[in-house]
Amino acid sequence: MKKGKFITFEGCEGSGKSTQIALIKKYLDDNNIDYIFTREPGGTSISEKIRSVILDVNNKEMCNECEALLYASARAQLISEKILPALSEGKLVFCDRYLDSSMAYQAHARGLGEEFLKNINAYAIKNCYPDYTVFLNISPKEAFKRKGGMDKDDRLEQSGMDFHNRVYEGYLKILEKEGDRFISIEPTGSVEDTHQKIISELKKRGII
Ligand code: TYD
Repeated sequence: MKKGKFITFEGCEGSGKSTQIALIKKYLDDNNIDYIFTREPGGTSISEKIRSVILDVNNKEMCNECEALLYASARAQLISEKILPALSEGKLVFCDRYLDSSMAYQAHARGLGEEFLKNINAYAIKNCYPDYTVFLNISPKEAFKRKGGMDKDDRLEQSGMDFHNRVYEGYLKILEKEGDRFISIEPTGSVEDTHQKIISELKKRGII
């Protein structure tokens, strides 16, 4: 039975998610707020092994269905080993990426469709949906301009600009449908400005 709060972070490649997550962790530590932080794909020893298979640049022949099922498998393990036990103890759980990534990347950008992704993930997530999701709303064009290019060691980052534009479109579709849960933050100001916006949104909803 879920008692704690479950918050996820989403955004396109280069949206500044990692920087913001590091600042949130520091804020939580400085304010003695009890939490656990995990990430997808990964977060458990089995899921981290699945992650390395998914992101391996040598796995060029990986078909879309295999990719989607591997993300769901990594998620299933993370949910049952870490997230559900923590939530049932009433903990505050943060996760870097979750189901919305599969909806944006695999359902929308890869073109597998919402139905397929919802079906396979129903087995993985056991009805565990995020209470809120912080979405760093910046287009891939703007994000890569800021970041200065793509990462050569990551299979997903190398998928090309069209792919990343479709990922962004996928996120915007979720925002349109689930604007109450999906908290859109435009990271257009300084890193500190964006951090303050996130903290204020989390406070407003009584999460921290
Ligand atoms: P990572 O290096 O963690 O990327 P980031 O720092 O941008 O979060 O790699 C995770 C990659 O996996 C990223 O390209 C997004 C992708 N992904 C999916 O395609 N589907 C998913 O369900 C998840 C969780 C991630």
